[in-house]
Amino acid sequence: MADGQKQRVFSGVQPTGKLHIGNYVGAIKQWAGIQDQYDTIFCVVDLHAVTIPEAIDPKQFRAKILEVAALYLACGIDPAKSTIFLQSHVPEHSEMTWLLNCLAPLGWLYRMTQFKSKAGTNESVGTGLLDYPVLMASDILLYDTNKVPVGEDQKQHIEFTRDLAQRVNTMFAGAKLVIPDPMIPPAGARVMGLDDATAKMSKSTAETRKGHAIGLLDTPAQIKKAIMSAQTDSENEARFDHAGPGVRNLLDLYEVLSGQDRAAIEAEFHGQGYGKLKKALVEVTIAALEPIQARYQELTGAQDYLGDILRQGAERARSIAAPTLARLRDAMGFVAP
Ligand code: TYM
Repeated sequence: MADGQKQRVFSGVQPTGKLHIGNYVGAIKQWAGIQDQYDTIFCVVDLHAVTIPEAIDPKQFRAKILEVAALYLACGIDPAKSTIFLQSHVPEHSEMTWLLNCLAPLGWLYRMTQFKSKAGTNESVGTGLLDYPVLMASDILLYDTNKVPVGEDQKQHIEFTRDLAQRVNTMFAGAKLVIPDPMIPPAGARVMGLDDATAKMSKSTAETRKGHAIGLLDTPAQIKKAIMSAQTDSENEARFDHAGPGVRNLLDLYEVLSGQDRAAIEAEFHGQGYGKLKKALVEVTIAALEPIQARYQELTGAQDYLGDILRQGAERARSIAAPTLARLRDAMGFVAP
């Protein structure tokens, strides 16, 4: 077990588009809350970001990567408690991916829903997009990870990681890869688009549709506009089990951000018209993001500090990843260097 008695946690966010409230409540908020309990490792998965190369502008990519790292800190990830690093700084991720590529059945990759939806019918998608789950499995398995805190959309990738680890352990007994469990938050695991509650809030959709998402760095005016124009319905149901998808999404967000229980929320908003719920959600959202934005602003003037944290993080990450990779190489029969 990692770090004495503590179990190990690993997770990451891709530096693509703008981080939104779904990324926060689905993932980063729970990361911040478990740092004392677990040995926590949080990675900016920049190698994953290039699986859609058309979305990469080399001039902006570097800034985007550092923005995500700074947002981790701003959201309360404490470098004194957690390891924070950039995936591309630890070359073991790429080598592990090659070994696992050779052990992962192609059929498993073709079945991934995220690949199917991102690739669509486009035949010129990069091979990396198909291979995305293997790189993610490498991220997780390199650290002998016990728990992976993510939103609901990542469940299938974690199932894939578990199946692959079991397969490798069966083929090469000495590999002893640790089988990870997903850690999905009870509320906020699947935040839907504000403009269309039938689709998940996503960074890529937010690029082209104003009002789709609430960005972590949005101004109070932008937050207000997005929430006040969010899709609802013509009913008057502010009850969790009866609301339509748009209202349910607002109730879910209010539940996570206010910290109130469902009965109290229903008592406050049911039968009141949706304007009251929206206004209250605007308030709790602005209040939740204000301190994050203030810390983020402080960090923009502290690039050297951020650079030091990422260097130290990569060093510690390598000290864990390298022995795991060596274990797998050895189990497969490679000659030690
Ligand atoms: P990414 O960058 O798409 O999303 C980062 C995290 O945010 C969660 N999330 C959401 N949660 C609730 N509602 C939403 N609408 C929403 N949208 C996104 C995601 O579930 C995720 O937890 N494949 C991962 C990155 C990754 C990773 C890893 C994660 C690479 N390697 C290893 C864990 C462990 C991804 O695409 O995240």
